[in-house]
Amino acid sequence: MDNDKKQEKIKALLEQVEQSEISSIKSVVSEIVRVINDPRSNAMDLKEVIEIDPPLTARVLKAANSAYYAPPKRIDDIRHAILWIGSDALKELALSQKVCQVFEKSVSFDGYSRTGLWTHSLAAALFAKALYRREFAEAGENAYAAGLLHDIGVVIEDQFLQDAFRVIIRKAKKENKELTEIEVAILGYSHADIGGALSEYWNFPEELVAAIRHHHDPAGADELFSRMASTLYLADYVCTQKGFGYIGGRTVYDKDLYLTGLKQLNIRPQAIKLIAEELEQEMRKMQDRGVVFA
Ligand SMILES: [Fe+2]
Ligand SMILES: [Fe+2]
Repeated sequence: MDNDKKQEKIKALLEQVEQSEISSIKSVVSEIVRVINDPRSNAMDLKEVIEIDPPLTARVLKAANSAYYAPPKRIDDIRHAILWIGSDALKELALSQKVCQVFEKSVSFDGYSRTGLWTHSLAAALFAKALYRREFAEAGENAYAAGLLHDIGVVIEDQFLQDAFRVIIRKAKKENKELTEIEVAILGYSHADIGGALSEYWNFPEELVAAIRHHHDPAGADELFSRMASTLYLADYVCTQKGFGYIGGRTVYDKDLYLTGLKQLNIRPQAIKLIAEELEQEMRKMQDRGVVFA
């Protein structure tokens, strides 16, 4: 399929997405991403963004009152939640509570489920963030959002291309191939293409768009964004290999690409092992103490 045809098809798909409830997360998610990326933003901005959305406010407060955050007394408003949890953690909590909404519908077959995909996305977000902080000593503002949203193209396929998606999942599983390979063969584009186009259309920061678009081919990202794209590749690889959620298709991706990523980012395998172990504990803790939503 030539590139024009491919873009045309993706555009038609995104028009459907715009009419659906998936687009209902657009404005709040963009606003939180903006606050995360703006060094001049403060806790008040965050509070405003969350409170504009009452159902989100309720979800954030519910999570803030869970055993995971264990407040000494009931948290009744966002201001109080910021004080107890901290504004960085609250940005992430609000973002994950909002993005999670598109993963909640109970769609599952042949080992694929939206909730499994959500667990995978949350794990990738936590992993990518940890890698940035520990290995690059940087905040990696977009790492968390990139993890949460990287496979949103899969949700779009599952919702709007149901029949083809079932065939794709079955084929990827049966032939033990990567999802993207089967997608391209059947649809002419992959979930990474869809996610990249959607995040561009939603005006996300370029780094975030590049990471989502190239999470299966980090070498394809512009040099400026190659660290974020490679980090996301590693996060995706490790979370898939460790079985944090299930997506369908091959359970381990291209090992050579993984090793190249480690080398390029100058990360020792031992560091990955450590972050993965901590992530496993963190995920368990979140689940046990009522913060893993789905
Ligand atoms: Fe993916
Ligand atoms: Fe993934």
